[in-house]
Amino acid sequence: MSELRPARIAFVGAGVHATESLYPNFGMIPELELVAVCDLDLGKAERAARKYGAQWFSDLGQMLDTVRPDAVCACGPAEMHLEVGLEVLGRGLPVFVEKPPGLTAADAMSLLQRASATRTWGMVGFMKRFAAANLVTRDYIASPEFGVLNSLSMIHGCGPYNDLRRMLLFNGIHMLDLARFLAGEVAEVTAQAAAPAPNVFVATIAFRFANGALGQLNMNSGHHWEDCFEQTYLSGSGAAVLVDASQAVEVMASGRRFADPPDQRLYGWSGRYYVSGNMAGWWAGGHYTRGYWGELSHFARAVQGVIEPEATLEDGLRAMELVEAILESVATNRPVVLPG
Ligand SMILES: NC(=O)c1ccc[n+]([C@@H]2O[C@H](COP(=O)([O-])OP(=O)(O)OC[C@H]3O[C@@H](n4cnc5c(N)ncnc54)[C@H](O)[C@@H]3O)[C@@H](O)[C@H]2O)c1
Repeated sequence: MSELRPARIAFVGAGVHATESLYPNFGMIPELELVAVCDLDLGKAERAARKYGAQWFSDLGQMLDTVRPDAVCACGPAEMHLEVGLEVLGRGLPVFVEKPPGLTAADAMSLLQRASATRTWGMVGFMKRFAAANLVTRDYIASPEFGVLNSLSMIHGCGPYNDLRRMLLFNGIHMLDLARFLAGEVAEVTAQAAAPAPNVFVATIAFRFANGALGQLNMNSGHHWEDCFEQTYLSGSGAAVLVDASQAVEVMASGRRFADPPDQRLYGWSGRYYVSGNMAGWWAGGHYTRGYWGELSHFARAVQGVIEPEATLEDGLRAMELVEAILESVATNRPVVLPG
């Protein structure tokens, strides 16, 4: 446990995602103390706050003035992330906003500019960066054994959407951020999309990365929310890696089926490393495996000043720029060069 005092965090939003996937992590993050909950629906704020021994509010300004937190988390509609983000950053406090950080890249830029003006920072809820399988993968692809990255292929199936922009903005954005996390900055995208059935959008997106690698994301909204699908395959000059649902990592080393003995310690006997298969109790649950614990724990420690923020407001801006570039490519049927 850290010897520093826990970061005093106020939370805006007590809806479904916040109370089911984020709040339950607090008991397992000694570096974080939830001091207040704010929701326009005071009943929801009270229910969540009572459970964690915090105060409750329906007005953001009143909460900030009363409890004077070290930092704020926000999880609600995209417009609320922008509004709360601007207010909190304007007071010089760090903020964690769920994705997306607004409705447009211009929104994301205004958060970044506000943070820069008040010399503070923010994080965006790109939890896949904190899923252990993706962290293991990022370590491995930086190794000499993996060699030079040459391609990234992603498949993603999510629940229904009635609009391509919404599918990309509210769901595809996680895969877009993961693509950048694993393969680096995107220089150019070319995308096509179709709507073959009611509430089913498909998008096929080709990436040219700044480091010369090529990539692809095929996504569709033809699944049920209870039955989504995700796979990421990375190919390097010495090996390849398959990441299944951000939960299992399989290493395919060139010239042999199994990894060398030193890697077996990390990647398992068959070259397949399971994040949760051999772990017991709470730690095997989705909150840890999927990265929700990791993102909040990281935020708390960054507020304490012991680590640098990850999944920053700049990453939020880059992901929003990617969404807009993909939509532009679909509309114009041409490749689009990314501004960064
Ligand atoms: N990262 C993930 O895996 C993941 C999964 C699901 C949802 N999300 C994100 O979580 C967010 C919330 O989704 P949800 O399904 O929980 O929504 P929800 O509607 O259940 O909850 C939103 C809550 O925010 C409150 N709210 C709205 N405006 C407010 C304001 N100005 N001040 C205070 N409270 C306000 C509402 O009263 C509501 O309780 C969305 O942005 C969504 O993109 C992320």
